[in-house]
Amino acid sequence: MNHKHLALPILLVVACQLLPSFEAGLELGAPGTLSVDEIRASLKEADAHKVFVPVGPVGMPADLSDYIPADNQMTKAKVELGRQLYFDPRLSGDGTIACASCHHPDMGWTDNAAFSTGIHGHITGVGAPTVMNRILGSTQFWDGRAGTLELQAEGPVAAPGEMGFTWDAAEELCREIEGYELQFQAVFGASATKLTITQAMATFERTVFAGGSPYDHFERATPFYSLDMEEGLDMEEEADAELIARYEEAMKGEDDHPMTEASKRGRELFFGKASCSACHVGPDLSDEQFHNIGIGQQGEEPFLGRFAVTGDEADRGATKTPGLHNIADSAPYMHDGSEATLVEVILHYNRGGMNEDGTTSSHLSDKIFKLNLTGEEIYDLAEFLEQGLSGTVTSVEIPRLP
Ligand code: HEC
Ligand code: HEC
Repeated sequence: MNHKHLALPILLVVACQLLPSFEAGLELGAPGTLSVDEIRASLKEADAHKVFVPVGPVGMPADLSDYIPADNQMTKAKVELGRQLYFDPRLSGDGTIACASCHHPDMGWTDNAAFSTGIHGHITGVGAPTVMNRILGSTQFWDGRAGTLELQAEGPVAAPGEMGFTWDAAEELCREIEGYELQFQAVFGASATKLTITQAMATFERTVFAGGSPYDHFERATPFYSLDMEEGLDMEEEADAELIARYEEAMKGEDDHPMTEASKRGRELFFGKASCSACHVGPDLSDEQFHNIGIGQQGEEPFLGRFAVTGDEADRGATKTPGLHNIADSAPYMHDGSEATLVEVILHYNRGGMNEDGTTSSHLSDKIFKLNLTGEEIYDLAEFLEQGLSGTVTSVEIPRLP
């Protein structure tokens, strides 16, 4: 076999894996492929309008009812409508951009780019965060300027550089397409409005989870190790029987989703020496607060972050702590995509948030300091982020559209 002939195809395969943008465009919903009859039938299904609370994978809070706004309860028909709208490029000025263009399931619910590309090739000023686990978010956007997913969704549709549409046109479109009109009538009892369009989109987003990672299974199993499960339990007692069932489930989960040894050491560092958990805590490893960690703070126009919302000096350059489930899927990292890999992220923290030229941001959080991690510790921490935190992401099919 001639090695010269092998080299090119291998190079091409490697290049395509490294550069997702080489692939033909991301798949969005195809208009006109879902018939009115099919929509009528699905709206008549027994459970279509039954209010439900989603159940997340292992690691998510067991009861998510507090995370759903009282005025926007979830039903299967509403999720389905939201899924269609989320993938529908007709909600943009030139019919090419949908929410999914920048937050795509194939790309960790983001676009794997430092900055996103909106309508007419316009490049956004910050990177698209993931849509996974947003149900847990108490604010939305890097600076938290939207309090809810409903209010967040108002932005991109009308933003000239994102979907470049108007809300009047969006409402009209949803009223004119019979399949949408039928769904809005059945779900909200009226034709589409800006409010109900964003409510449907937000409801869909609340079904997108990442969890069930080796770390989540490890955390679920850990409390049982302090209980002596083998002895002292009365198998006849009902309470004990339930505990034993939970124990066995937790043990099986851990066996099926083991953390590697390096990942376990990385976890110790994350919650210990590396002090990541000073900000990355809670079910999705975010404190939902804002901190200046020294990203995008150089140059003529340093990123304002939370300051833009509060006008409070203490918030200058402070960004919302992102969740970390399945973080390996959503490179590059940070609001400006300035860190290409998880190791680079760790090196930034290891330098104490210092810029590469040795300068420091004037409003750096006091929770950021030099970590003195060894090479091996950096590797272990990266393994935790990559192996330990990668679990199952809700599988969502690209919808057919009315
Ligand atoms: C052109 C690319 C683009 C499109 C289209 C787009 N987004 Fe975004 N999205 C972004 C960017 C960039 C941000 C971050 C903006 C910021 O924080 O200032 C963002 C932020 C978000 C957030 C906040 C996440 C968080 O962690 O705070 C959510 C949720 C979201 N978008 C959902 C949507 C929905 C729903 C749509 C469709 C209605 C949509 N996006 C359309 C690029 C896009
Ligand atoms: C002072 C709070 C704080 C501490 C401590 C902290 N982080 Fe962060 N982390 C943040 C904030 C805020 C961001 C987003 C910064 C930005 O984009 O401007 C972030 C971003 C990240 C990202 C990129 C997420 C994304 O979606 O792009 C990763 C990965 C990360 N942190 C891991 C870690 C690790 C590992 C540690 C410990 C070595 C750590 N963090 C310590 C607050 C913190």
